[in-house]
Amino acid sequence: MRKKILAANWKMNHGVEETQKFFQEFNRHYHINSEIEVVIAPSYLSLQEAVSLNAKKISIAAQNMHWAEKGAFTGEVSVSQIKEAKCTHVILGHSERRHVFHETDEEIQKKVALALTHQMQVILCVGETLEERNQEKTHSVLERQVGSALSVISGAVTIAYEPVWAIGTGQVATPQQAEEAHQSIRKMVWDRFGMDAASNLRILYGGSVKPDNISNLISQPNIDGALVGGASLDPKTFIEILNQMA
Ligand code: PGA
Repeated sequence: MRKKILAANWKMNHGVEETQKFFQEFNRHYHINSEIEVVIAPSYLSLQEAVSLNAKKISIAAQNMHWAEKGAFTGEVSVSQIKEAKCTHVILGHSERRHVFHETDEEIQKKVALALTHQMQVILCVGETLEERNQEKTHSVLERQVGSALSVISGAVTIAYEPVWAIGTGQVATPQQAEEAHQSIRKMVWDRFGMDAASNLRILYGGSVKPDNISNLISQPNIDGALVGGASLDPKTFIEILNQMA
């Protein structure tokens, strides 16, 4: 049995004060459920606050990191720095990193490898654009993104399938569309790394997840959780998603 994950990606939202407010509410209303791993990825400057208010011992993630150990990379944050900030997880290859900041498959591959060397849990994001879906390129895009990012796989890797057209648009993938993509990702991992790796791999869906659409998604056999942006910013909504998943 794969343990479910609900991960929050706060993106460039919630400064220190809002992080305090979030955790005050969250700690009051969230009842620990050992069957679902909860991860929150605040922005860098709110990490310390999140860690210090983390009364329910959820996992804290960074939203990104650089591929080099350290050096002259103005404005970037290193793996040791996020580790020192007590992050156990890191989101890599998010579609906004790929499409807004033009991160390449090669850079993402280097980041994944470095994060794994440092014993970080990686949430690797993949997903096709609307144009690619319309051109029936979904499978080949996923194959390229998964194939190039992973040269090894272990329990430390989780994949998040996030179709770009569903992120922040309110246009969630249907459970069938998501299940189909998750199935093909699991098959790719099976072909490359074998049955055990494929059956243990957790694959999250992301893109306009809300309390009212999570149950149909999570009931699909290959969907092991969700990566949530907008709906994770409000603690009540986030907990509502958790409750629907349970
Ligand atoms: P969304 O974002 O839930 O706001 O669509 C998901 C994501 O970008 O991870």
